[in-house]
Amino acid sequence: MSIVAKSYEESADPVVAYCAEHTAVQTPLQAELQKETLTNAPHSGMLGAPEVLTFGENFIKFLGAKRVLDVGTFTGASALAWALAVPDDGEVFTFDIDHANYRKFGVPILSKCEKTFKKIKPVEGPGVESLDKLIADGQSGTFDFAFIDADKANYSNYYEKCVSLLRKGGVIFVDNSLWDGAVCDPAKRTDPRTAAIHEMNDKIYQDDRTYSALLNLGDGIHMAFKK
Ligand SMILES: C[S@@+](CC[C@H](N)C(=O)[O-])C[C@H]1O[C@@H](n2cnc3c(N)ncnc32)[C@H](O)[C@@H]1O
Repeated sequence: MSIVAKSYEESADPVVAYCAEHTAVQTPLQAELQKETLTNAPHSGMLGAPEVLTFGENFIKFLGAKRVLDVGTFTGASALAWALAVPDDGEVFTFDIDHANYRKFGVPILSKCEKTFKKIKPVEGPGVESLDKLIADGQSGTFDFAFIDADKANYSNYYEKCVSLLRKGGVIFVDNSLWDGAVCDPAKRTDPRTAAIHEMNDKIYQDDRTYSALLNLGDGIHMAFKK
């Protein structure tokens, strides 16, 4: 039994499961997307944990966030959560190197709610390049919230780009920051993805540009608030 777990995994520790049960809230559309992803999508364990998505939605509402960066779309669960949380004129830019899973599993479900679906702006291609393009387009300082959940090797790069793109007071959530607990064990940091996440955790903790906290929620969330 792991004390680091997504609530839809059976291995959740009872305390972790209890916290998730008293945190996660899903609309019928979110429940449908979760069911479809876990049943039919390849590598379904990449699906965002519902308790993390609810926590992010709460932050977006609390911040009054309108413009959101969602790095790592997969089937669209995180993009859907942020689109539900931003106001009608809000925008969620969701980035993935390949939107095939989003088109196949996400779009048929998300498009049932046009009001929410139209807020989602899919950007296909390597995430670092896509974020660099926004920076080159002069969009630094214009986003309110960012969720980083794509390839782990680029986590530090994504963090850097998101710090630049966020306004003062904007918030970053970095998902999988505990990586099933592997980052806590020096012997496991020989794995490149574990090492990349561990380095990013150190970097955020030491970063003077943000206030931060590493939380044991889902597979770990490193939160950073831009000063
Ligand atoms: C963990 S999944 C995202 C899960 C999603 N945020 C959710 O809540 O369900 C990670 C995604 O990152 C994408 N990805 C991998 N390498 C990437 C890259 N270099 N640039 C952009 N996206 C990438 C994968 O295709 C995959 O869909």
